[in-house]
Amino acid sequence: MSSNKIAVVTGSNKGIGYAIVKGLCEKFNGVVYLTARDVGRGEAAVNKLKELGFNPLFHQLDVTDQSSVDKFKEYIKSKHEGIDILVNNAAIAFKNNATEPFGQQAEETIKVNYFATLRVSEALFPLLRNNAKVVNISSSSGHLSRIPSEDLRAKLGDSTLTIPDLNKLMEKFVKDAKDDKAYSEGWGRSAYVVSKVGVSALTFAQQRLFDNEQPNRNIAVNVVHPGYVVTDMTSQTGHLTTEEGAKAPLYLALEADFKGKYVWYDSQIVDWYGTTPSQY
Ligand SMILES: NC(=O)c1ccc[n+]([C@@H]2O[C@H](COP(=O)([O-])OP(=O)(O)OC[C@H]3O[C@@H](n4cnc5c(N)ncnc54)[C@H](OP(=O)(O)O)[C@@H]3O)[C@@H](O)[C@H]2O)c1
Repeated sequence: MSSNKIAVVTGSNKGIGYAIVKGLCEKFNGVVYLTARDVGRGEAAVNKLKELGFNPLFHQLDVTDQSSVDKFKEYIKSKHEGIDILVNNAAIAFKNNATEPFGQQAEETIKVNYFATLRVSEALFPLLRNNAKVVNISSSSGHLSRIPSEDLRAKLGDSTLTIPDLNKLMEKFVKDAKDDKAYSEGWGRSAYVVSKVGVSALTFAQQRLFDNEQPNRNIAVNVVHPGYVVTDMTSQTGHLTTEEGAKAPLYLALEADFKGKYVWYDSQIVDWYGTTPSQY
């Protein structure tokens, strides 16, 4: 059993997650886990970092697969007991020209981006050590203002919203999308937006639970828009490099002393209920 400090980043074989692992290897005094759903892609990423002189460890983790999540949890529990930094980064986005029916896009996007983030959190939160930091990666798309309906904004932004109630809202969106009613019901036209607003709302609910039920653990859960970053998700468009996109997540993982906030890529706190500083 090691008493080292432990950091875990989901979906980190490429893109912003990979850059977060690299930054943690540089700045975090502890063991860094690069995790990926695909062992080959994960090990290739670890080897790339080893060539740069870093030494992350690898473990398989498919965030949508309960048995994979359970295995990872048991592994961390037996090997290290606890986690000090958890970055929920793994996500998907359908391309604008995707041909899958919108209901299918909605179901898959909510499953990976929202429910799998919740799944990983539920599994790993009991392992968080006192003073741990959780960083949920959202997006500018995860700002409350991106939901057109005032009624839905009021529900999603309710300061007493519970996780079960939020789950019901996410399920309702998927049902509305399948029934071809998502737009008329006020969700807008983007499953990615709804999933990331869900991740933002989840963050605030998670922080409330820690504050109300386990204040002595002093755990911080924050949510961040990493910026518009050149990755496969954006088809290699974007204004920022992956290293630049990793900056605010790394700030939240290593330095920030606040809790339950929505943070922009310049590491500034943004009012989730107000307006965004810019589109991206
Ligand atoms: N790029 C941007 O401009 C931007 C802007 C705002 C927010 N974000 C957010 O930033 C985060 C990283 O995005 P990115 O741009 O770096 O995207 P990316 O290059 O597409 O990387 C996404 C990562 O998530 C992994 N992943 C997907 N499904 C998974 C699953 N079921 N289990 C485990 N890992 C899974 C992918 O693994 P595979 O290689 O196996 O597919 C990949 O490693 C996401 O949360 C995204 O929504 C990105």
